[in-house]
Amino acid sequence: MRTEHTIQGLREQLRQARRDGKTIGFVPTMGNLHAGHISLVERAKVQCDIVVASIFVNPTQFGANEDFGTYPRTLEADSQLLSAAQCDFLFAPAASEMYANDLNQSTIVHVAELGKELCGAHRPGHFDGVSSVVSKLFNIVQPDTAFFGEKDFQQLAIIRRMTHELNFPITIVGVPTARAEDGLALSSRNGYLSDSERKQAPMLYRMLCQLRDAISYGQRDYAMLTDAACLHLQKSGFEPDYVSVRRASDLLPATAEDTALVILVAARLGKTRLIDNLAFDLP
Ligand code: PAJ
Repeated sequence: MRTEHTIQGLREQLRQARRDGKTIGFVPTMGNLHAGHISLVERAKVQCDIVVASIFVNPTQFGANEDFGTYPRTLEADSQLLSAAQCDFLFAPAASEMYANDLNQSTIVHVAELGKELCGAHRPGHFDGVSSVVSKLFNIVQPDTAFFGEKDFQQLAIIRRMTHELNFPITIVGVPTARAEDGLALSSRNGYLSDSERKQAPMLYRMLCQLRDAISYGQRDYAMLTDAACLHLQKSGFEPDYVSVRRASDLLPATAEDTALVILVAARLGKTRLIDNLAFDLP
């Protein structure tokens, strides 16, 4: 695997690959890689000739009181995992390379509506930071296909809409959530959990499965279901931001007629903000 730290260096490498007629798959990340990230690289390897992963802890998607300063930066270990997964290129730019020392860029990609709901309501500006940096990365890498985790379901929906509406000639592929054996969705932020919080955390996924089962058995009062779930989380030591039943296609609130659904949850456990979701179809 070859590591490039500059936009120009990466472009030169990829120009040659493109001239050779190779297809390029792209996996953007913020590093501290785990088996979930690696599953995206493996999927990209199957579908594309050349795989580019990026590691960039993007300052513009963190709020002022969030964990930008403490976000785990583990480039050495990440490089080894990517090499072992046969990744071809790692793009690991400094913030100055991406933003020329001015985080207040004039041009912002803002996906209205989808970006202000759910996590957008609790993390103002977060999705503008995500869609703007992913646009920059798309223009730098110019991949044929880009791979994103369903773990961040709202992020995936926003990237799909942005790609469609801005006519990026890129196919977006969603990859299922990788979980620990006890059901907890793998996340770089799980490392913040204490031992007792780590034991408590899989409750989120168990709750999603229980809600799915209740809905599958015919329960349609989603407001009642999600209010009860929030209360249950609170009693168990979580501080929930939301539990919500949405249409999987556009994340609008689900009605009793919708059949392709996703239940999304965000909750803090101690100082760690956890998110998870479960998509399913009603018969
Ligand atoms: P990061 O949190 O590092 O995630 C990078 C990619 O890995 C995202 O597409 C995310 O959905 C996926 N991912 C994370 N945990 C996963 C899991 N358990 N199973 C499957 N996929 C998983 O998401 C970001 O970085 C950033 O917002 C980014 C898109 C890179 C823009 O800065």
